[in-house]
Amino acid sequence: ARRKTTRALRKLYEKQTPLTMVTCYDYTFARLVDKADIDIILVGDSMGNVIQGHDTTVPVTLEDIIYHTRAVLRGNQSAHILADMPFMSYQASTDDALRNAGRLLKEGHAQSVKVEGGEELATMIARMTAAGIPVCGHLGLTPQSVHAFGGFRLQGTDDEAAERLLKDARALQDAGAFMIVLEMVPAALAKRVTNALDIPTIGIGAGPHTSGQVLVLQDMLGMNSDFKPRFVKHFASLENTVVGALNAFADEVHQRSFPDDEHSY
Ligand code: KIV
Ligand code: NA
Repeated sequence: ARRKTTRALRKLYEKQTPLTMVTCYDYTFARLVDKADIDIILVGDSMGNVIQGHDTTVPVTLEDIIYHTRAVLRGNQSAHILADMPFMSYQASTDDALRNAGRLLKEGHAQSVKVEGGEELATMIARMTAAGIPVCGHLGLTPQSVHAFGGFRLQGTDDEAAERLLKDARALQDAGAFMIVLEMVPAALAKRVTNALDIPTIGIGAGPHTSGQVLVLQDMLGMNSDFKPRFVKHFASLENTVVGALNAFADEVHQRSFPDDEHSY
């Protein structure tokens, strides 16, 4: 199957087919995602948390995103590949943003990039779009700003914040963004934003009315049974499966029943 283009995503949106997106950071999982009905892979800076073990996405570098995007690409031929622009790869200047986004396409072979923020990014997004770089926005809880927010919590909860978010979403669309992620906002607000726009919204902790949904792969597979914020659903319990398999191996090694004849030369 040919990789999904922004145009293909647009067609799904126009047909009101919900868009499916998961994060992915490596070849092995990318191959499994390829076998499933997933439209978009986000090589997310959530790799800072789930791959690198940091508390935030702040330490993730452009090199990290490029490295993981290349690994994902080799395992998956069908999904649209969206790469996150990490903290400080676009905030300091529009020139930086263009060069760094360019590197994600040239070296990472991503098809589009994602940036966190509202109206203040409009000029930058317009320039990136004009340069042929499809840009996805990200509003609501924007994890790169965790130190400014003072924690990870629901956004857009009062009228003023809700109006600002709606205004930001319009500004991103007007600047040329092809899609917007809405993270941790009330379902009613996400619905309002989705109805106000004519580009797709992708929700995470944003209720059922967005144009599509995204989850972090390791979260939705239940690879950490302790990590279950309200917006995460464990569609599998891989923690149990993996630990069980490791202990089965250890037991057989201790009992010297592995390897048996079948697994020996
Ligand atoms: O990095 C990430 O996983 C994300 C999603 C939560 C949208 O940005
Ligand atoms: Na991200």
